[in-house]
Amino acid sequence: MIVGADGTVLGEGWHRGAGTPHAEPAALDDARARGLDVTGATAYVTLEPCAHTGRTGPCTDALTRAGIGAVRYAVEDPNPVASGGGEVLRSRGIDARHAPLRAAWEVNRRWIGAVAHGRPWVIAKWAQTLDGRTAAADGTSFWVTGEEARAHAHTVRAEVDAILVGTGTVKADDPALSARPAHVESPHQPLRAVLGMSDTFGAKVWRDENAIAIRSHDPHEALAALEAREVRTVVVEGGGTVTTAFLRAGLVDEVHAYIAPAILGSGTNAVGDLGIGTMGGALRGQDVTATALGVDTLVTAFFQRGPQ
Ligand SMILES: NC(=O)c1ccc[n+]([C@@H]2O[C@H](COP(=O)([O-])OP(=O)(O)OC[C@H]3O[C@@H](n4cnc5c(N)ncnc54)[C@H](OP(=O)(O)O)[C@@H]3O)[C@@H](O)[C@H]2O)c1
Repeated sequence: MIVGADGTVLGEGWHRGAGTPHAEPAALDDARARGLDVTGATAYVTLEPCAHTGRTGPCTDALTRAGIGAVRYAVEDPNPVASGGGEVLRSRGIDARHAPLRAAWEVNRRWIGAVAHGRPWVIAKWAQTLDGRTAAADGTSFWVTGEEARAHAHTVRAEVDAILVGTGTVKADDPALSARPAHVESPHQPLRAVLGMSDTFGAKVWRDENAIAIRSHDPHEALAALEAREVRTVVVEGGGTVTTAFLRAGLVDEVHAYIAPAILGSGTNAVGDLGIGTMGGALRGQDVTATALGVDTLVTAFFQRGPQ
């Protein structure tokens, strides 16, 4: 957000996903589109402006060119390649300061965690019955949860860089794996990734180029393939075999479990054997939220912490 000396908001912007302009140039564009002069104004940003050319140019240069007078950033950039933006701005006479804010750390948590671990941030997502089933004995899983829960999952898809499923899910459900959040005209579409050896040619996931087959059973290899495509956040949407493999490998950072008030008694479990034999060994999440979505409940929890 760019704010003038009298407190007027001159421009607002946010990062819409990998390869798109960062928040700073987006906010500068917004001010330009409104015909407003940002000379001497203050830019308030969640993350320290980047000082390197990735897929977009350095934000430090965009801010300098625009004549911004001051910058307040809530989180220092942990990425060794792009960090140091604050120092660059100060060396150019801009009053750039780190102004820590917990809420901003939370907004950037997935990205910070991805950079800190050198791999994409993994959200394991599933929809389950009260007794932990994600599909019935005959393989059907349409639909475990109701419309509100499914709509919510679409908003999450639109926020991430990639969705990954196993070949088993592609064969059973033939999912489109598109992001269709309500009231958004052309949402960001995540990369679709299919993990496994079998050929799923002809399935809906292969309808355009925005999809990759990862012919492996190794979650580490899957994440390396996604990292190579600059994926920072991936939702692993099952099925149980693939989710279990990621959990076993200690590669799940966040879980989104959509829980329906339904009971099946048989069918597929959300998660298979993790080799945990005693209650003390249970994986326990932190920063848990529970959100009512119609008759269903979304429980989210973090399983690894990025640096503060
Ligand atoms: N409710 C939900 O949230 C939800 C979500 C997704 C799926 N489902 C349901 O779950 C069922 C499918 O589950 P699933 O477990 O069979 O499918 P899956 O996890 O999508 O795929 C399993 C397949 O992926 C490959 N694979 C990839 N990594 C593997 C690894 N580390 N170990 C072993 N195999 C690996 C194997 O096939 P290859 O031979 O090709 O290598 C394996 O057969 C369907 O009934 C579907 O409807 C429910």
